[in-house]
Amino acid sequence: MNVRHVAIIMDGNGRWAELRGLPRIEGHRRGVKKVRSIIDASIELRLEALTLYAFSMENWHRPRPEVEALMSLLDFYLKNEMKKLAADNIRFRAIGDIDRLPAGIKKQLAGFESITEKNTGLLLTGALSYGGREEILAAVKRIVKAGLKPDEIDEKTFESHLYTAGLPNPDLIIRTSGEKRLSNFLLWQSAYSELYFTETLWPDFGRDEFISAITEYQKRERRFGALPEVLNS
Ligand code: IPE
Ligand code: IPE
Ligand code: MG
Repeated sequence: MNVRHVAIIMDGNGRWAELRGLPRIEGHRRGVKKVRSIIDASIELRLEALTLYAFSMENWHRPRPEVEALMSLLDFYLKNEMKKLAADNIRFRAIGDIDRLPAGIKKQLAGFESITEKNTGLLLTGALSYGGREEILAAVKRIVKAGLKPDEIDEKTFESHLYTAGLPNPDLIIRTSGEKRLSNFLLWQSAYSELYFTETLWPDFGRDEFISAITEYQKRERRFGALPEVLNS
């Protein structure tokens, strides 16, 4: 089974730290360090797209010091990695309610998008201040503003108004840390995604497990509601 797009809910940083008697932010710091190896593996496997859920709409409700620490980590990550990622031919896009992010980060994200715009390699999407329901509502608002008539709205037009316009739907969604839920991630796009749940906490998730999740996915049979012989004919 061909895999074009993998999306990851990077969960379990807090528990990773708590298990070690460390502050939660230390878990986030370790989690950020893990991102590079997953991007490298995605390039090596020639994935078309990798989407990383880094901060949800609901995460704004966490205690202020944690939100602030996460924002400064994001800032630090962008400052340090942007150039390297651009040199690796990555095309970057941020999805979510980006306006809610601190001005400095917004600026960096816009810069990252524009310096990688013409790249042709892995499409890396960062879900930041992202919520699936909010994305759907934002799409509806854009459609209403554009004055589209009911007859003009089909799945294709609707998708073109989502933050993920142009991205293939995720074939595989991986969630670390043992939680078995989507937590408002890619609600529209995940309709037929395969799901992979692992007990591994995000800071412990590495290249080997990423590759084995993809290998497991490749052994699955996707039906999309049809009978297998119909799909194969
Ligand atoms: C995931 O780790 C990172 C973010 C949500 C920003 P958590 O912070 O949710 O870690 P746990 O789930 O509390 O272990
Ligand atoms: C989902 O994890 C969001 C991210 C990993 C960025 P959460 O830790 O916020 O999700 P819940 O609260 O366990 O559902
Ligand atoms: Mg969590």
